[in-house]
Amino acid sequence: LRIDGEGVIPQEFEKACRRNSVKALYLMPTGLGPTAAMMSRPRREALVEIAERHDILIIENDAWGPLCPDRPTPISALAPTRSFYFTGFSKCVMPGLRAGYLVVPERFEAAAASRHLVTNWMATPLIADIADRWIKDGTCEKLLRWQMTALAARNQLASQMLDGIEFCASPNGMHIWLPLPEPWSEDAFAAHARLNGVAVAQGANFALGDHDIPAGVRICIGAASADALERGLATIARLVRSQPEPALLTL
Ligand SMILES: Cc1ncc(COP(=O)(O)O)c(C=O)c1O
Repeated sequence: LRIDGEGVIPQEFEKACRRNSVKALYLMPTGLGPTAAMMSRPRREALVEIAERHDILIIENDAWGPLCPDRPTPISALAPTRSFYFTGFSKCVMPGLRAGYLVVPERFEAAAASRHLVTNWMATPLIADIADRWIKDGTCEKLLRWQMTALAARNQLASQMLDGIEFCASPNGMHIWLPLPEPWSEDAFAAHARLNGVAVAQGANFALGDHDIPAGVRICIGAASADALERGLATIARLVRSQPEPALLTL
């Protein structure tokens, strides 16, 4: 579905519902990958209203939502009888703690449990036990705060390094979206960045369907060391401000 600065456009969802036999709407309303868009409460309500009218299920990925404590109410809380909500620890607490939660409408509890059984057997018990203990003794909360502080500092660094360049981010987000100014293409920009030692993800890799999408790249700000991030962002800022040349040295 087409998106704008807030994510899925309600009219596009409505059109799809009228045209096709849509079964479910998959959304990431807080910090959408790759555009880092944050969906407002009115947008969330508009999508819920359409889903209710057409009797469509909603799957809400809130993998990094807890990093943004003042985000609007999750869509699943607006439509609990038709929504599947999930989040986990790997983004918000630490990557090695790979366990998560799925909240399902009551009528799907048995179905969700048996599908989980046939596809995953069970959550890895040791990891689930560690997560459970760390929630109860406050370790998870502490790690979440640490992660929020570290990401806020990195977002600030990105704002400084990309000063004067238009980009989209959220205050504790893990990635930023950089729309590419004309005449840069995603291919050319990614090739030049790689040639300079920086890997960025092209927007086209995240897109489905054949509609036009605006050119842009996703820049991950969470994984590299702070020094490497600063150098990488300096390279990106220099590239955005220059004209694309064929990246001959990649040949
Ligand atoms: C879009 C999206 N959702 C969810 C996750 C979290 O996955 P997991 O909890 O399995 O590590 C990721 C991790 O990269 C992701 O990119």
